[in-house]
Parts: sequence; C-alpha cells; structure tokens
Amino acid sequence: MGEITLKTSLCLLTLLVTLAVLETPYCHAAAIVAPSPSLSPEVASLMQEYWDWTLSSSPEYSTFFGIHDNDHLLDDMSLAGYQSRYDQFKEFHKQAVALQANYTSPYDSVNLRALVAEFENYLDSFYYERYLTPLSYLGGIHSDFSDGLSYMLTDKLDDYKKILSRIHAFPTQIEQVGELLRIGVSKGIVMHNISMKGVVDEIGGHVVDKAEDSPFWEHFSNITTPDATAEGIEEIQKTARSIILDEEKT
Ligand SMILES: *[C@@H]1O[C@H](CO)[C@@H](O)[C@H](O)[C@H]1NC(C)=O
Ligand SMILES: *[C@@H]1O[C@H](CO)[C@@H](O)[C@H](O)[C@H]1NC(C)=O
Ligand SMILES: *[C@@H]1O[C@H](CO)[C@@H](O)[C@H](O)[C@H]1NC(C)=O
Repeated sequence: MGEITLKTSLCLLTLLVTLAVLETPYCHAAAIVAPSPSLSPEVASLMQEYWDWTLSSSPEYSTFFGIHDNDHLLDDMSLAGYQSRYDQFKEFHKQAVALQANYTSPYDSVNLRALVAEFENYLDSFYYERYLTPLSYLGGIHSDFSDGLSYMLTDKLDDYKKILSRIHAFPTQIEQVGELLRIGVSKGIVMHNISMKGVVDEIGGHVVDKAEDSPFWEHFSNITTPDATAEGIEEIQKTARSIILDEEKT
C-alpha cells in the first residue's frame, strides 16, 4: 500500500514540522507553509515544493486534507502515473540529499533526514511493486472511493457537481486498477486469498439495478444546501442516477 504509507508518513512528517514551529498541533498544510526562524529558505523551499506537488499529483489526498482545489479530479492510478510519481520522488530525493551536505544546523538536518527517509520509503516500496496489488480487505477503490467522497464539500449545489464528476471519472480509475491487477497476475504478484476476503462482494455491491441501492447514493439522498431548489436537487439526483446506472448518453 504505497500510497497509504505515503499518506501516513507524510502526515507524521507534517506533524513533526508543526510541533517544531509550535503551530496548532494539527496535521495541516499551514505547518509546512509557516516560515520558521531557523529553517533555511532552501530547505523550506524544497519542503514547500514537495507539499505542493503532493497535493496537485494526488487530488484525492488533497481533498482528504481539506484542500478542495482539485475536487473534480481523481488520482492517476495508471502504471504511467506510478512511474512518473516514482521519477519525481527520485528527483526530490536527489535534491534533499544534496541539501544535506550544506545545511547542517540541527533544525535543518532533522527535517532533511525526515524528508530523505520519506522519499526512500517511497522509492523502496516501489521496488516491491506494491501498486500491483491495489485491492485487499484493508482497502482499495472498492471501499476507499465512496469514503473519499464524504470528504468533499457539500456547501453549495455546485459542490455536488464535483462529486458527480468524480463518480463520472471513476470508470477510468477502475480500468487503471484492472490493468495493474492484470500485470500483477502476469508477473505472479497477487494478494493472498485471505487478504481478498469480502472484496468481491464489496465490488458486487456497486453493481445495482436501482441507483438508490448503490453505496454512492447516500451522497445524493439528502441534499440540503442553502441554495438548493427542488429543480436543482432533481437535476443532481437525475444525473447521479444515470451515472450510477451507466445510462449516460455520451
Ligand atoms: C552547496 O554549497 C556549495 C558551495 O557554496 C554550492 O556550490 C552548492 O550549489 C550548494 N549546494 C546546494 C544543494 O545548495
Ligand atoms: C479463498 O477464500 C474464500 C473465502 O474468503 C474461499 O471460499 C475460497 O475457497 C478460497 N479460495 C482458494 C483458492 O483458496
Ligand atoms: C439531512 O441533512 C440534514 C442537514 O445536514 C440533517 O439535519 C438531517 O438529519 C438529514 N436527514 C437525513 C434523513 O439524513
């Protein structure tokens, strides 16, 4: 679970930085953005660049962190997507290691060490091709996708259109995950049967005859935004129904 490891460890890293600069102890973007009197600008700048890239290259992660700029997009889970993230991590790793030679104050060096460890963790996990086993009872798009939608905004009727555009893009992600699984099978890299307990049933739960039976429907069943009109709600629910049932005229 390369991505989960990334999220968890990045969160810890953020927390470390947060505590160090005595900001509010939340895992939040402000932690890295906040200038510190003792962090060298070059080190801060690499951290900022890594953070910005993380948010833009993972729209779903960004949503999870309460940053809603890319709420209409989904993560690229294609093999090419993983490869390009790997290449970027290698580049960040190179930069962080280069900075280590020049920035040796305790504050710089502890942050650089955490950063380098973060990058090495990702690069090492890539070696084991963890992305070829993207589904298990612990998670995967069969369970995480719908959960992820609950982190999206529902303040305005327009926010529901973003939820719809994510569901609309979901089949592409399913294709990407299918391709990863196929490559895994061809290389003999698959999950143990025990780790797949319940996964097939959970996927089956999305295959419905009535939109109301879909796990996605809960996101549209109770639209109560201040700007909601009966027609507006009707339109959103109608679109949701046709996307869920795959009845879209394209
Ligand atoms: C480290 O310092 C040297 C000498 O000042 C400089 O040439 C080099 O570009 C610096 N490297 C980094 C990564 O800042
Ligand atoms: C895999 O596990 C399921 C129960 O989760 C069981 O019904 C099935 O027989 C197992 N298949 C193999 C090949 O062991
Ligand atoms: C619908 O949403 C409103 C506002 O969030 C909430 O107060 C109400 O309990 C919800 N109703 C149902 C049936 O979930």
